[in-house]
Amino acid sequence: MTVQSSSVSWRSARRALVGASLALLVAACGQQASEEVAASDAPVPAAVAERQEGFKALGASFKLINDQLKTDAPDMAQIVPAAERMNVLASQIPGWFPAGTGPDDGVKTDALATVWTDPDGFAAAQTRLATATTRLQELAIAGDAAGLREHVKMVGASCGGCHDNFRVEQ
Ligand code: HEC
Repeated sequence: MTVQSSSVSWRSARRALVGASLALLVAACGQQASEEVAASDAPVPAAVAERQEGFKALGASFKLINDQLKTDAPDMAQIVPAAERMNVLASQIPGWFPAGTGPDDGVKTDALATVWTDPDGFAAAQTRLATATTRLQELAIAGDAAGLREHVKMVGASCGGCHDNFRVEQ
């Protein structure tokens, strides 16, 4: 009798606990929903602005290199620092996508949710670029215009490989 009543009260206490945590969950979801509405009107989070600036700089350096390689006498004095810049930026990409800066967070971004749902795939795409820009920098330092002309194709494919899976189609 004693055992039975204590087990009943334990069960009801447990039920009360489950109820309380459900209530907390519901409250948290409600809060998130209202934050999402606010976020669409809010300024772009610093992390998103930083990564978009970073990608713009990556694109600008890559354009400079490609433009130089189209000339008869590519200027290595411009290509070397641009290649170094690309290599540094490529290595920084993993830090540009903190949690809470994706499309599901109410943030205005061209990044797809797959960046966060497929971290291994994203890391592989970043590594592919970083490997390609390291080689790009080596070829630039060596002054190897022919090698660079060939290698920029691989760099470009590394950009596209990630954009295909992790960026909104442009
Ligand atoms: C590992 C994945 C990845 C790689 C590699 C990558 N990008 Fe991107 N890029 C993105 C994502 C994701 C965005 C969208 C960022 C956002 O809107 O928050 C983006 C955006 C951009 C943008 C638009 C920036 C803006 O908002 O104005 C440019 C330009 C760009 N990338 C150029 C490049 C170039 C050039 C390369 C190769 C040298 C490259 N990217 C390699 C993932 C990648």
